[in-house]
Amino acid sequence: MTPLDELFDRNVAWAQAKTRDDPDYFRRMAENQRPQYLWIGCSDSRVTANDVLGLEPGQVFVHRNIANIVHTSDMNILAVLEFAIQHLEIRHIIVCGHYSCGGIERALSEEKSALVDHWLQPIVMLYRKHRALLDAIPDPRTRLDRMCEINIELQVRRLAATPIVEQAWLRGVPLAIHGWIYGVHDGLIRALGAPVTSLAERDSLATIDARIVNPVEPESMLRRHAIEAFADLTSFEPQEGFDCCPDHGLNPGPAS
Ligand code: CO
Repeated sequence: MTPLDELFDRNVAWAQAKTRDDPDYFRRMAENQRPQYLWIGCSDSRVTANDVLGLEPGQVFVHRNIANIVHTSDMNILAVLEFAIQHLEIRHIIVCGHYSCGGIERALSEEKSALVDHWLQPIVMLYRKHRALLDAIPDPRTRLDRMCEINIELQVRRLAATPIVEQAWLRGVPLAIHGWIYGVHDGLIRALGAPVTSLAERDSLATIDARIVNPVEPESMLRRHAIEAFADLTSFEPQEGFDCCPDHGLNPGPAS
């Protein structure tokens, strides 16, 4: 027995479980992959694309690195991007970071002594530029989470500025780039604004500097459903003689 034999045992159990209910499972898998989404996420062990999206193998093409950064000199991410768009014909690119990201936490710290600090430099630079504003957020956890959101918006912009994506849009490929954030504390994904689907939309995005001053309100599906439910209630027209009580504040009003 070697220390990792347990993983081989787990693998066998998994493969057998897959074929128990679906004997053709691996035969289908061996034929081809037709993923609909490209996921660019953090290497954090808690944020695995297939699990949090509830997808099977074969459904999402994945690139992960520390703090989900798009370095435009990174051959790895550029090759993934080109392969995803041109060969897999993926039309939805998801940049999904997460709250409590250790990479972002490192970028906000004073420690700058390892290779990872070179990797994190775009976030460090952004933090340095807006330090007065960000340090004014009294709670360190809130400050970190705000920076996690801002980083995703930055990477969406960097992705949308790559020649690969620009060329796809110019060729009329209906490519959408989504900026999402995952809550390790509740398992929910939140959208950070609308997807970017064209050069014109990219060019009309608020600058990342403006976003730091006016952040986007992250919206989970649960929150969207709640807002829609409230909207239904407020559109309710009482019948004649309906004895209604005073306003209960059902209108959700501006996002809080
Ligand atoms: Co992370």
